[in-house]
Amino acid sequence: MISKRMEEALNEQIKLEGFASYLYLSMASWCDREGLEGCTQFMHRQSEEERAHMLRIFHYLNEMGGHALTPEIKQPPHEWPTVQQMFKDVYAHEQKVTAAIHKLVQMSYEEHDHTTLNFLQWYVEEQREEETLMRTILDRINLIGDGPQSLYFIDKEIQGINNSAAKAEAE
Ligand code: FEO
Repeated sequence: MISKRMEEALNEQIKLEGFASYLYLSMASWCDREGLEGCTQFMHRQSEEERAHMLRIFHYLNEMGGHALTPEIKQPPHEWPTVQQMFKDVYAHEQKVTAAIHKLVQMSYEEHDHTTLNFLQWYVEEQREEETLMRTILDRINLIGDGPQSLYFIDKEIQGINNSAAKAEAE
């Protein structure tokens, strides 16, 4: 059985992961309209991943005798001034998710809830990987710079990263 406090906090996390899924879906649509095929594929995959993160908590909460709530999700932005700004926003959002996960870990210590503490370790590792990935992308965008064909090269770079991630998942 899970405590009411933990249940409410996990429902908040469901909402945050759900918003991330919608945010990245919105980014996929913007990238598509900008003709950035690699970025579009990348953001669609990220959106699916976030949905999976949301569902993982959803199932866990019900398994533990709690009640997972389908969240109300606010509408994300639809436009970004540059692809660089879009990835800066992704990185900022991932940092926010990491902070939320760490708060949940702290709460599970306080509640002596070792089952949830153990469950959350997967998210701790996942957030470390996601933040590293987003920092790598921002570094590459900076390296490519803003010359005449930079968008083309940025898109190819993101496509390569996306293909490697998809391949690693399939193995
Ligand atoms: Fe599930 Fe990337 O936060």
